[in-house]
This record gives sequence, structure tokens and C-alpha cells, in this order.
Amino acid sequence: MTNLIHRQFNQKLPIAVKGDGPYIYDNFGKKYLDACGGAAVSCLGHNNKLIKKSISQQLESLPYAHSGFFTTDSAEELASMLSSLTPNPLNWVYLVSGGSEAVESGLKIARQYHYDRGYYKKSHIIARKQSYHGNTLGALAAGENIPRKKPYEPILLNSVHHISPCHYWRWGLKGESADDYGLRVANELEDKIIELGADNVSTFIAETIVGATMGAVPAVDNYFKRIRDICNKYDVVMILDEVMCGMGRTGQLYAFEYYSIVPDIVCVAKGLGAGYQPIGAMICNDMIYDSINNSSGYFQHSHTYSAHPVACAAGVSVLKEISKISTLNNIENLGIKLLNKLLEEFRDCPNIGNIRGRGLFIGLEIVSNNITKDSFDPKNKIHARIKKNAFDLGLMVYPMGGTIDGINGDHVLLAPPYIINDNHIDEIAKKLKLSITKAVLEIK
Ligand SMILES: Cc1ncc(COP(=O)(O)O)c(C=O)c1O
Repeated sequence: MTNLIHRQFNQKLPIAVKGDGPYIYDNFGKKYLDACGGAAVSCLGHNNKLIKKSISQQLESLPYAHSGFFTTDSAEELASMLSSLTPNPLNWVYLVSGGSEAVESGLKIARQYHYDRGYYKKSHIIARKQSYHGNTLGALAAGENIPRKKPYEPILLNSVHHISPCHYWRWGLKGESADDYGLRVANELEDKIIELGADNVSTFIAETIVGATMGAVPAVDNYFKRIRDICNKYDVVMILDEVMCGMGRTGQLYAFEYYSIVPDIVCVAKGLGAGYQPIGAMICNDMIYDSINNSSGYFQHSHTYSAHPVACAAGVSVLKEISKISTLNNIENLGIKLLNKLLEEFRDCPNIGNIRGRGLFIGLEIVSNNITKDSFDPKNKIHARIKKNAFDLGLMVYPMGGTIDGINGDHVLLAPPYIINDNHIDEIAKKLKLSITKAVLEIK
């Protein structure tokens, strides 16, 4: 009997009681290798002494001070660390309690940037199909994860428009090069801006690497460069959502660094608190900050727990851990090892269509036939079967259905902590193979 509302009302969940490195233990002593960091959160494992110590020190000195009255050392330190680690001119940090709040803050400050300059009509948001930006109403409207959105459609913003995602393996035309494909889908942004009228468009938002909705899908190399040019041309604020793929997960602090561009705003969360505290950040550039500073000088937004001192103290320690150059190099190397191991393990498996990603952010697309790329009948919910089979074996992975169009397609997302070793990589590959093989047999 429980009074807690779980996401699946009638599901009986095990009780998690202890963390040790990349493992979580339940109250029966069963251990689970966390190969997805929950939802790409626990990037430093479940028992980091430095982070725990900084949290208790902050609690001892001061648990909370409202950000309308005070600033705190931990918030100032976190902001200055983020500012110095984030490529210029992304220098201004707004601290919140999670990913949805970071995205809401980004969408709102972009709008306020236009408003404060007198461009009152600039209000429309352009985002991409098959994306997820959070569950609060603004962020939910911006994303297009169809199952998560469907019940709420009538109460969502109607100033959001969606263009194609960039997924060459699935949507590249026969004979079309990756570059041509990248340009074609990026140009949809320009077409949409022209259709709406540039005077009416505020923002473009995208996940640099699409996470939960499609399973770690990076854009082709030239895509974001073209997007950046289009945003510049039409005075549209470019927001990259790195709530999942940021904070070192790809082997760079930010995934956008691989594309040699800098957005106007980047949103981060998950890995910034690493599961030790709920913390997120919206980081904007000098252009946006200066413009508001020189007009209203006031960001018309805030939350009671914005810049929470304990969460900020955790964020400082997390950043110290992951910004060490050796950690970032190691993530890249571990990612290559994991990818190669998966490629080897699934070499002869007809049900893996594509293994992709960057660093320790990897997706496997599940198909019924890897030549035709056909998916399984969604009624079979093969993604849910894989999750259950893996969990039974003591492996946490993050599968999802609707990979192709919100209904069809399945994938498994992997986002293990940066502290895994070769043995953990073997364990992930072996148990995942067993889970997928069993799931396929169950529906045959
Ligand atoms: C890319 C992306 N943006 C935003 C969010 C929302 O973050 P939160 O659940 O912390 O509100 C998520 C969560 O999965 C995400 O993956």
C-alpha cells in the first residue's frame, strides 16, 4: 500500500536503498548496473564522496536563501565556473532546478530579448519533430515527443512549429550524401521562417544530439553550421538543449563543440547535478544579456528554488570532477570501447538496425529486419520488454518506442556513468544482448 503516485499507477517497483559506483542496490540486496544513469543523470556514479561532502558543508552553513534577497557563494562559484568552461560569448548563467525549467528559462529570455528591443511580434518558436524538451507546458509544446504530448495538446502553446529532425540513417534519400541531406533538412528552418515571416519568429530550439525520443541521434556534420547561419540571418535566437547530451557525456563538455558553432543559449541539467541534487542552468550570450541589461534590466522570470545554495554546491563539485581534462578524454575513450563492444556483440543480430551516438551517449535502433529497416509492430512494445528483461538481469537501460514517427520504431538508450571500466562494458553488452534476444523470442 502506498500513497505515492508512481508514473505507472499499478506498478510495484523495487525499493532502491544504496548506491556504489555505477551500481544501485535494492532492499533485497539485488544490484543493478546503471547503464543509463537513470535518464542520463548519474554521470559520476552513486557514491561520490567529494560531492556528498560539499553538499553537507553547504547544509551546515546555510541550506537556503531566497534569490530575491541574497546571492550565495555556491551560486556565484557555479555561475563563474560554468561561464569560464562554456565557449564565448556564452557567459551569463541562470540557475534553476532541472531541465524543463532550464528550457522554459531559455524560451522566455529569448522572447524577452526581442520584446525589450521593441520587436513585439517576434514570438513564434520553431523546433523539431521527434524531440523532447521537458514536461512543463512550454517545454512540452516545444518538443514533439508524441506519446508524452498527446493528452495535453489542447492546453499547449499554439505558437510552436516543427520541422524535420536530422537523422541521416533513417531519412537520407537513396543516393543523397550526408552533406546534401544536412543542408536539405536545415533549409527547412529557413522555409519555415519565411512562411511565418521573420518579424514573427523568436526562437529555434533543438537537442544537439536527440536523446529520449530517437535514441542518441547526432546531426550530420554540416547541419548546425547551416542552422547557425539561418538564425543569424533572420535574427532568430538559437537555443541548443543539452540537458541530456551536455556536461561531458559526449567527451566534450558540450556536444555542440563537435560542430564548431556556438548557440545563443544552451540549456543543461541532469549531468550538472549528477543525481546528487536537482540543478539546471540556462546560459545565454553577451548579446542577449547586454540587450536586456540596457533596457528593462530585469528578467521577468524566477522560481522559488532558483539558484538553491545546496544544489549549487553539488553542481560546483560535479563540474570540478567532470571538467578535469582526463575525465573528458576518458569519456571519449570509454565511449569508443563501448561502441566497439556493442558492434561486436550485435554483429550478427538482424534486429539491430543502427548503433550511433557520441562518447557515453549511445543508441541502438531495434528493427525487425536490418536490411529493410522495418520496425516491429508497436503493439508488441518490444522496447518495454527489453527494459524488463534487462532489469531482471540487473541491468538498467532506457528504451523507448515511437523512434521513427512517435508510434513506430524502438530504440535503447545507453548513458552509463563516466566511471565505468572494461568489466562494466562487458556486462552491459552481454546482458543487453540477452535482453534483446529474449524480447524478440517473446513476440515471435
Ligand atoms: C533533452 C531534454 N531536455 C529537457 C528535459 C527535461 O528535463 P527535466 O526532466 O529535468 O525537467 C529532458 C529530460 O529528459 C531532456 O532529455
